[in-house]
Amino acid sequence: MAPSGDAPGTRPTSVPPSAAAARAMGRGVLQRMDKGRIRHVVAVGSGKGGVGKSSVTALLAAELRRRGLQVGVLDADITGPSIPKLYGLSGPLVDRGEGIEPAASRTGISVVSSQFMVEDEQTPVIWRGPLVTRLITQFFGGVNWGALDYLLIDMPPGTSDVPLTVFQTIPIDGMIFVLTPQDLAALIVKKAMNMARDLHVPLLGVVDNMAWIACPHCGQRIELFGPSRVPTVGAEYGIPVLGQLPVVPSISELSDAGRLEELASPELARLADAFAHSVDEVTQRSVRTL
Ligand SMILES: Nc1ncnc2c1ncn2[C@@H]1O[C@H](COP(=O)(O)OP(=O)(O)OP(=O)(O)O)[C@@H](O)[C@H]1O
Ligand SMILES: [Mg+2]
Repeated sequence: MAPSGDAPGTRPTSVPPSAAAARAMGRGVLQRMDKGRIRHVVAVGSGKGGVGKSSVTALLAAELRRRGLQVGVLDADITGPSIPKLYGLSGPLVDRGEGIEPAASRTGISVVSSQFMVEDEQTPVIWRGPLVTRLITQFFGGVNWGALDYLLIDMPPGTSDVPLTVFQTIPIDGMIFVLTPQDLAALIVKKAMNMARDLHVPLLGVVDNMAWIACPHCGQRIELFGPSRVPTVGAEYGIPVLGQLPVVPSISELSDAGRLEELASPELARLADAFAHSVDEVTQRSVRTL
């Protein structure tokens, strides 16, 4: 299960980190902020956009919250924020002297997002690179997150500045990647996974989203794109498939209504189990190697 970086066949498309990347890694470790009272910080990423990263983040957070855990979501997709919409939240956020207070969803999930900083949903957020970097660090270190069991970070897709900033400044325990069956041909997800691994971010597992659709008449699974290849990608990196989620037609409706946290399913419960297990494993491993 461990991300066995040096084993043959586990570095399919990556090259050794460049000198610049190596320097960045060193800087990152030095600059990482304190975790405070947050037990686990996990980033949720993908290769390309639209694979369901934000939906999976919001659904996983909701499932963990249903178990009575304290959960936060940091929306790191500064230019395409979507978590507030999925939970029906709006800004602005206030600071009562202990840092920015996150918004709270109906079930009590703490949320911070650039969406809360604009007047309305249609206003684009146009930030220059350095501001994005500052905002990301502010969203972690400048927020009164309080005591959390899990802080999930909804990342923008790909290998931009934002993931680099997150990896270098936020003390993340690991990262999960959301893939869809159609996602695989372009191999973009591997670039993003390689970037995380090269920057020493433990890869916890992959989520196979929209893996099948249930026939509305007989309930039979229909794999629209053939048998999933997501497990193969997981195996290449030595990491597990944490869950397989079907196409759920009600996701759109619930998202539009800001009520996505109401969706529960056996698949989500299994995903949350595997996720928690994987986080525990990686945390114990890092404690042992201290
Ligand atoms: N399992 C699913 N079943 C049905 N629809 C889904 C599922 N997962 C995601 N979607 C839909 O797919 C679309 C993209 O999902 P989402 O916004 O979560 O992706 P994303 O990876 O965060 O995209 P972006 O890169 O733009 O941030 C949304 O319309 C969402 O409702
Ligand atoms: Mg998104």
